[in-house]
Amino acid sequence: MKILTIGGGGREHAAVEALHKSGAEIYAVMKNMNPGIAKRTAKCLLCDEKDAEKICRFAKENGVGYAFVGPEAPLEAGVVDALEKEGVKCASPTKAAARIETSKTFMRELVEGHGIKGNLGFAHFDNAADAEKYLKGIGHEIVVKPVGLTGGKGVKVQGEHLHSFEETMGYVREIFDNNIGGAGVILEERAVGEEFTQMVFCDGKRIVPMPLVQDHKRAYEGDVGPNTGGMGSYTDSNHLLPFITQEERAKALEILQDIVDAMAEEGRPYRGAMYGQFMLTVDGPKIIEINARFGDPEAMNVLTLLKTGFADICRMMAEGSLSGDVEFQKKATVCKYIVPKGYGVKSDSGHEISVDESAISGCGAVAYYANVDMKDGKLVTGTSRSVGVVGVADTLEEAEANCEKALKHVKCDAMFVRHDIGTRALVQKRVDHMRELRSA
Ligand code: AMP
Ligand code: GLY
Repeated sequence: MKILTIGGGGREHAAVEALHKSGAEIYAVMKNMNPGIAKRTAKCLLCDEKDAEKICRFAKENGVGYAFVGPEAPLEAGVVDALEKEGVKCASPTKAAARIETSKTFMRELVEGHGIKGNLGFAHFDNAADAEKYLKGIGHEIVVKPVGLTGGKGVKVQGEHLHSFEETMGYVREIFDNNIGGAGVILEERAVGEEFTQMVFCDGKRIVPMPLVQDHKRAYEGDVGPNTGGMGSYTDSNHLLPFITQEERAKALEILQDIVDAMAEEGRPYRGAMYGQFMLTVDGPKIIEINARFGDPEAMNVLTLLKTGFADICRMMAEGSLSGDVEFQKKATVCKYIVPKGYGVKSDSGHEISVDESAISGCGAVAYYANVDMKDGKLVTGTSRSVGVVGVADTLEEAEANCEKALKHVKCDAMFVRHDIGTRALVQKRVDHMRELRSA
């Protein structure tokens, strides 16, 4: 099976590795030369990942039958629609289906309109004056979000990033003044609890779950600092997380199935990986966001564990014939991203980075290249996350230890890592937090 992949990050490297393992012949489109992806491909095209014309030409020239899109920007640009017109079957959503991610207002209104559980109070604004009036009238904490895409970095939460009415309005104005996200502002009720990611494979009708993952959005240890695309993530060997029950997870899956049904009813059938980010509250899981793709870093955790051939899964998602027997190893994983110094505020990029893949493998871990590039024969860091290192083992503790051992085999003089991710202390903090909320 010939498959085109779009994207040059850690998530896409993990997808390419899984496709390679399942015998696919891979043609990759990416904007940076990711050496992990390049190693596994028949041919690479370096170009803007939103350039539908170039991508379609590359697919046609190489007789590619299927495609998988990693990031959200090409989905929003309609690359899937263009490929499908050329007869390439896509294991990723069309522009219309990707609206579930590309417009946060569309998502909230869909969930509300179809009476789906797990919604949060929300209001959409086209100007700062209306948002100000609304803010003056509410008595609870809110979250400020640009409605459109911001690469996971546009959300600010009252009580965490915003500490007064003035600060909140300052950020609302900043979004309008700079047209951040390009589609207005949504103010949402703040949910309190523990976050988790439930991703599913979807073929337009059916969903098949992946293991639960917990991401770490804040840039610095102890969950402080600006929000990022995600600094690292873990999964547990039973595919749950230590603070969530099977019943609570089932509720999240029911919400995702209802969303998929609603999308089909609205004439926007959803195919591809769907990413549900939830806050587990004392009233059950609440939707934080729905993304039209795999999460990054979460894809690195789950695709490392995938036993079923990913090429087959992509074919079934694209053809609407997903079957229920997708299997994952019953192991724990801990992923920590090596990021450039300053990441989350202003990255210090362009530094040489070296990755000793075989030493990493000897530690019970795997490295996925992300926003790195080849310059004058050297591997250098870009402004986004550089390399994801995933420790794998029977228990979370061992997986974390493997990840830490492996991290020593990545060298760069301007990098940092959140070493607290997946540690017993941080995981216990999550469990204790949830226990406190439940007993209050
Ligand atoms: P997002 O980019 O939508 O994933 O948001 C980034 C982070 O902001 C999430 O991971 C949450 O920690 C936080 N967040 C977003 N929306 C809410 C909400 N309604 N209530 C509480 N926290 C939120
Ligand atoms: N890790 C969060 C995301 O991919 O959106």
